[in-house]
Amino acid sequence: MPRKLAAGNWKMNGLRSSLVEIQKLAERHSDTSVDVLICPPATLIEACRGLLFDIGGQDCHTAQSGAHTGDISAEMLSDAGATYVLTGHSERRTDHGETNATVAAKSQAAYDAGLTAVICIGETLAEREDGTTLDVIDQQLAQSVPDTATADNTVIAYEPVWAIGTGKVPSSDQIAEVHSHIRARMLDRFADGADMRLLYGGSVKGSNAAEIFSIANVDGALVGGASLKADDFSAIINAL
Ligand code: G3H
Repeated sequence: MPRKLAAGNWKMNGLRSSLVEIQKLAERHSDTSVDVLICPPATLIEACRGLLFDIGGQDCHTAQSGAHTGDISAEMLSDAGATYVLTGHSERRTDHGETNATVAAKSQAAYDAGLTAVICIGETLAEREDGTTLDVIDQQLAQSVPDTATADNTVIAYEPVWAIGTGKVPSSDQIAEVHSHIRARMLDRFADGADMRLLYGGSVKGSNAAEIFSIANVDGALVGGASLKADDFSAIINAL
C-alpha cells in the first residue's frame, strides 16, 4: 500500500512571517508516520530548507533554463531545496492556458531535474453535470502523465475544479469512483501503478478529512486553504 501523503499548496499566499506556521507544524509532527509536503510560494522555498518536511514548487517551466522572463525551472526548484513540484493545477490550466501537453512536458522536466511531480487533474462542474467526468479524467491522464512516470517520480492529485476553495466536496461514492478509475488506468499503464499515490484535493479540512481518507485508493490529500494554518493542517495530518 502506498505511503500516505498530506500535501499543502499555499498558492499565492505567504510571507516570511508565515514560516512560523511550518515551524509549528514541524514541532508537532516530528515523528509523523506519514509524508508531509508543503508547497509554499517560490520566494519561501529556500527559507524552508532544513525543515522536517518535503518542500515543493507550485509550477515549473518545460525548459531547465533560457530566455523565459519570470519563469522558474525544475532545476532551480531543486537547487533551492524542493523535492516535489505541482504540475497542471487547475488554476494554472485556467489562468495560464496550460494544456495536457504542457503539463506532460512540465512533468518530464520535473523528472529530469530529479523532482517528483504532483500531476493535477479534475473535471469542471459542467463536465460533472454532463456526465463526462471519467472521459475527462481519461484524457487528462493519457495526455498529462508522461510514459516515464513511476510510483517514485509521480503523484496524481484528483481535484474536481468545482470543489476547489468552494466548500463543496464530492460524495464519498463520487470520489471512490474516480479514484478507482485512476488506479485502474495507472495499473494498465505502469508496472508499479499499485504504488503510485493518488491524492484527493478540493475543500479538504479537519472535519471531513477522516471520511475522505477512509475511501479506497485515496492515499492522502492536496490541501489549499486549510494548509495555511498549522492548527488546520495538523488536524488533516492527524486524520491520515
Ligand atoms: O491545491 C489545492 C487545491 O486547489 C485545493 O484547494 O483546499 O482550498 O479547496 P482548497
